[in-house]
Amino acid sequence: MKNTIKDKVVLITGASEGIGRELSYQFASQQVKLVLASRNLEALEHLTQECLQKGAETISVKTDVSSSEDCKRMIDLAIGKFGKIDILIQCAGISMSAPFESVQDLGIFEKLMSVNYLGIVYSSYYALSHLKKTKGLIVNISSLQGKTGFPGSTGYSASKFAVQGFSDSLRIELKDTGVDVLVVSPGPIATQMNFRKFDANGTISKEKQQTPKKNIMSVSTCARLILDAIVRRDRELVMTFGGKLIPWVKLVAPRFVDRLVANAVEKFYAEV
Ligand SMILES: NC(=O)c1ccc[n+]([C@@H]2O[C@H](COP(=O)([O-])OP(=O)(O)OC[C@H]3O[C@@H](n4cnc5c(N)ncnc54)[C@H](OP(=O)(O)O)[C@@H]3O)[C@@H](O)[C@H]2O)c1
Repeated sequence: MKNTIKDKVVLITGASEGIGRELSYQFASQQVKLVLASRNLEALEHLTQECLQKGAETISVKTDVSSSEDCKRMIDLAIGKFGKIDILIQCAGISMSAPFESVQDLGIFEKLMSVNYLGIVYSSYYALSHLKKTKGLIVNISSLQGKTGFPGSTGYSASKFAVQGFSDSLRIELKDTGVDVLVVSPGPIATQMNFRKFDANGTISKEKQQTPKKNIMSVSTCARLILDAIVRRDRELVMTFGGKLIPWVKLVAPRFVDRLVANAVEKFYAEV
């Protein structure tokens, strides 16, 4: 089959770990040109070497996506190096695990919005004129929590609903430009994000705490599904069968969806 993404310039935020890192590996094998961004430059430079070995010309850019200046610099450096951007994949994200009433530090809500939502706004804004030239693609990694609320995740879920609303609006605005917008809504994926979340006091553990559960989707399967959706230029990728049903079942039985989600969350945390 013809490799339709060969020689494309692919910028990945949140590339140092988890889904972003695995996407970087999988794209590197497709002979693309890679721009890898996140805050941890050491991890990025290590990854850059691995991607170079796989045959992909790669640069890393230290970027905090909650800073609009950093996002502008990231886009400028990508253009400076490769002259164009074809695919902007926005994986950078943080999470929380605390019932709303238990929260002691309301700053959690600002941080979640700054990274998960505003990071996408800033990077899309500075990349847009370049993406119009290449008739490119914006890929925003949301979550099933952007389709329906989950207990313990008020701020995270709100940030992902914001991503969905932003992406759906932007897609309509861009309909005659050739730029497409893909929203990816994974269910639970075996990355460290599941163990590294804001708690009620606003602290976030930086340590790897546990091995992710084996019976949730692997990060390599998740990245492969994203890559396939990018090649097809899909507008939505919802990763689980249950996730695909959520909008429909919510119309007729919203309380049932609430119960289902509450049980699923309880079971998930009982098992990790
Ligand atoms: N894992 C899941 O179960 C799951 C499910 C649904 C959706 N998602 C979504 O998928 C995306 C990736 O999640 P993941 O599981 O791969 O998480 P992860 O393993 O924790 O990786 C998160 C990535 O985001 C980067 N990041 C965090 N804050 C940043 C900031 N301010 N600026 C730039 N980069 C930042 C981190 O790099 P640095 O620390 O180096 O900055 C890291 O590379 C997120 O948007 C998440 O919400 C994950």
